[in-house]
Amino acid sequence: MKQRPIYSYPIDEVIQKRWSPRAYAPTPLSDEQVLTLLEAARWAASCNNQQPWRFIWSHNDGSEKYQKLLACLADGNRAWAQHAPVLIMVLNYPPYKPCGPRNQWALYDLGLAVGNLTTQASLMDLYVHNMAGFDEAKVRELFEIDAEMSPVTMLTVGHLGDISILNDFNQKRELQVQVRKPLDELILF
Ligand SMILES: Cc1cc2nc3c(=O)[nH]c(=O)nc-3n(C[C@H](O)[C@H](O)[C@H](O)COP(=O)(O)O)c2cc1C
Repeated sequence: MKQRPIYSYPIDEVIQKRWSPRAYAPTPLSDEQVLTLLEAARWAASCNNQQPWRFIWSHNDGSEKYQKLLACLADGNRAWAQHAPVLIMVLNYPPYKPCGPRNQWALYDLGLAVGNLTTQASLMDLYVHNMAGFDEAKVRELFEIDAEMSPVTMLTVGHLGDISILNDFNQKRELQVQVRKPLDELILF
């Protein structure tokens, strides 16, 4: 059983509940569940309402799209992510105007969108794990994305599963208590 951290202040249960698991149950999600998560992302705030995020997603259904997504992952992530019922790639698509020449807030906006998605997931008893460990060149090659788009993170989503499906290394990681810098360190003034 995963030990829960001690919070400095009593934050809401929906935020307490979130963590990044690696052991997922094989239970498939419905299209409606996944689209509900993407809809939650859609309603995030963004600079000038430009919504500079895009998604490529698949159920773990052996389809060509799923195989391509899985192939983009770093080996260490693929080892456990292959058991998750859903994979989502999140891409940044920064419009160049009117949020400045490069829309420097585009990644911030994308993070807010994934934050919405993640909170919605918690409310649905689903768990999200972000992965920066993927091969960007492979994403470009396999999905032929627009040159102005950049893959930023890949997500696994699903219900919590039995940790016995993981190797020893990942079983230990799964049981580690979440740690954070003290709040004092994060507040400058
Ligand atoms: C942008 C981003 C990239 C991440 N990349 C990986 C990854 O490639 N592999 C992995 O196992 N975890 C990855 N993580 C998960 C973090 O390690 C995890 O969020 C952090 O240790 C805090 O743990 P918690 O989410 O359980 O609270 C990533 C998280 C974020 C936000």
